[in-house]
Amino acid sequence: MKNVNLYRLVDWVKERFPVDVQELKTLTNEPVPNHLKHWWFALGGTPAILFCIQIVTGVFLLFHYVPTPEQAYDSVGKITDEVPFGWYVRSLHKWASELMIVTVMLHMSRVYFTGAYRKPRELNWMVGVVILFVTLGLGFTGYSLIYDQLSYWAAVVGTEIAESTPVVGSLAADFIRGGSEISGNTLTRLYVFHVVILPALLIGLVVLHIIFVRLNGVTAFEFEGERRSRHRTFPLFPDHVLTEAILAILILYLLTMMAIIFPAGLGDRADPLITPEHIKPEWYFFASFRWLKLTNVYIGVVGQIFFVGVLIIWPFIDKVFENKFPGAELSVWIGFLGFTFYLILTVWEALV
Ligand code: HEM
Repeated sequence: MKNVNLYRLVDWVKERFPVDVQELKTLTNEPVPNHLKHWWFALGGTPAILFCIQIVTGVFLLFHYVPTPEQAYDSVGKITDEVPFGWYVRSLHKWASELMIVTVMLHMSRVYFTGAYRKPRELNWMVGVVILFVTLGLGFTGYSLIYDQLSYWAAVVGTEIAESTPVVGSLAADFIRGGSEISGNTLTRLYVFHVVILPALLIGLVVLHIIFVRLNGVTAFEFEGERRSRHRTFPLFPDHVLTEAILAILILYLLTMMAIIFPAGLGDRADPLITPEHIKPEWYFFASFRWLKLTNVYIGVVGQIFFVGVLIIWPFIDKVFENKFPGAELSVWIGFLGFTFYLILTVWEALV
């Protein structure tokens, strides 16, 4: 009797949701190349896990955060000291954001150094570069919401730098600030960017990225030993999905440890009249900040725009190098030099 009711219920749902489960399984259960068993090749899933953690913890923070200059700082203080487990959720959100940036950079480095951006994946590389900058934008806007001295002044300096961009600079800065000066409007806009515009954009971009991965497949690499193996692929479900699930648990464990050992802190309340002696952005902007200090703001900004442009069209520049100097692996040398330069600037700024 029970079974008959259950079948009826299944039929009822099938009639209203006419999807062929078998077809869906075949569509989604694409075999995954064996090399994705090496964790550095499958790094793309890690920022995706962290982004999910960011959304869940972010929604919790939204229940208590008040985006006005008068109340922002106190509401962060309340989350940290009074709301049950508020300190934990806030620390998870902070550490997951930093880890997300690290893992996006690692995934990008893997793609770069294995040449996986080459034909036919040039467009997906370009989508990836936009993902990187949207992720950095989420970091910048999120940091500004705390409204302590450091985060407030980082926002002031950030918008001043944006203002130095040729042609569109002052328009962009006025748009972000909601006027010609930092005010309550600025916090509202940074808040809207952080909780609506950038997350929505990132969701769309990640979906597009995964569609591209599905359409082009991942670059096939073969290793000694594996070449002889008959099983050169493994199923996405349950194998790969289970690995990602275990990874998600390990990441949560790591983030919990970070939250307990280094809980998210709160500096002095923002004071627009007192400029702190040392203004520090988040570590991932250290290189950019040091570069601006070494040059003047105009050259610094133009230089960085040039760098972003090169990064976006890199697959096409690489193609020209490949044709002119076949086998020279110039991309590896350029990537190595670029990474070392970024590291030196970051460490330099960190030590000051
Ligand atoms: C939220 C950030 C990102 C997510 C969730 C993500 C996700 C993924 C996933 C799941 C894959 C499949 C293989 C793998 O795991 O490596 C992949 C591949 C790829 N990703 Fe990403 N990605 C992100 C950011 C980026 C960035 C910043 C770039 C480059 C600028 C990039 C470029 C690529 C390319 C070109 C591939 C194809 C690699 C191949 O064929 O081997 N991705 N991504």
